[in-house]
Amino acid sequence: MSKTPDTIVTGATGLVGRWLVPQLTRQNRQVMVLIRKSTLRAAAYGRWVETHGGNPANLSFHDLEMDQDNLGLADIDTSKLRDVYHLVARYEFGLTRDQARRIAVLGSLRLLDWCQSVPKLRRFVFITGYLAATHAETIRQAPIARQQKLIDKQYRKCGAYEASKVEENILVQRKAKQLGIPYTIVNPSAISGDSQTGETTQFIGPAELVRDIYHGKLPALVGGADTFVPLVAVDYVAKFMASIPQQSEAEGQSYWLLDQATPNFAKLVAQIGQYLGVDYPKKLIPKLLVRALPRVLSGADPEALVFMTNLRYDTKNADKLAKKMAIAQPEFRSSLENWIDFLVSRSAS
Ligand SMILES: NC(=O)c1ccc[n+]([C@@H]2O[C@H](COP(=O)([O-])OP(=O)(O)OC[C@H]3O[C@@H](n4cnc5c(N)ncnc54)[C@H](OP(=O)(O)O)[C@@H]3O)[C@@H](O)[C@H]2O)c1
Repeated sequence: MSKTPDTIVTGATGLVGRWLVPQLTRQNRQVMVLIRKSTLRAAAYGRWVETHGGNPANLSFHDLEMDQDNLGLADIDTSKLRDVYHLVARYEFGLTRDQARRIAVLGSLRLLDWCQSVPKLRRFVFITGYLAATHAETIRQAPIARQQKLIDKQYRKCGAYEASKVEENILVQRKAKQLGIPYTIVNPSAISGDSQTGETTQFIGPAELVRDIYHGKLPALVGGADTFVPLVAVDYVAKFMASIPQQSEAEGQSYWLLDQATPNFAKLVAQIGQYLGVDYPKKLIPKLLVRALPRVLSGADPEALVFMTNLRYDTKNADKLAKKMAIAQPEFRSSLENWIDFLVSRSAS
């Protein structure tokens, strides 16, 4: 029989959760997994944890439907609960503002409200994302009365998914501070597969780039020579996150997680194409030009174009903390190649 949980993970069936939960059980944490239809999915999830080196005996399950007004968590025994990891997301382009906000913003604020009832809460850990958190940092510098206008602008400019992550970052931090809830934010870049096996459960976003190069369907390179779309391996993200609550200096901090060894986008595409042994596009087309074209001609999703920037991200505090945690970034090239192999094997089967 499972013990009283000391850790809760929402969104545990997502990419990050599937690597984080086995890692937490390896640290002998008692993990309560909050997922939709938990009774139906518990057995399969336990098998996943076991085959990924975790201990299913340390798991318990509870239902969570994030877009309900009442999250239905009142019956959880919180007497030993220390850490809450919040990973739920609706990673989808083309959402309306209301659809995206319902989970990312309203759902996260409701979960934070519930955290007030956790007597020994050590840390609320949640994820924004490298670009959304960068925009959120900029907006936070503006006078508070102007911040809502700037958030509205994000919805017009970036699309609902990314803008809802910006808004979530700002509002969740603001509320956590008001309520005195200790939090840490992690901001990963696009997440690739396991550095050793290449395995992933996500086939959208950067995985589509690999697929398109493989099938010769990437028409052109969008951006300039300095466009940077960084990657980070999922096992690195999971190890980093699993250790965060034990790090007192991480309270109230944000960490950008990405592999600085990722080459600029044009070189990344070349590296992928050469590894696959296929022809790949070499001609750069400015983002503004692609944006100006009707989507039917460019084939580019405007919400994906948002990520084609030349911004750089400071990972010094994350690198320092990782060193203290005794974890290191995996070697970039082999991690990339393992992920490509996995994706290609999946697209062949
Ligand atoms: N993956 C990346 O490259 C990346 C990069 C930067 C930031 N992030 C952020 O990292 C966090 C984790 O992302 P991920 O890639 O692990 O996500 P993911 O693979 O898309 O998984 C999303 C998770 O949220 C759950 N979920 C969705 N809607 C829900 C609802 N209404 N109620 C309850 N649960 C719901 C899903 O459950 P079901 O199994 O029931 O669908 C799943 O467990 C998110 O905040 C995401 O924005 C991800």
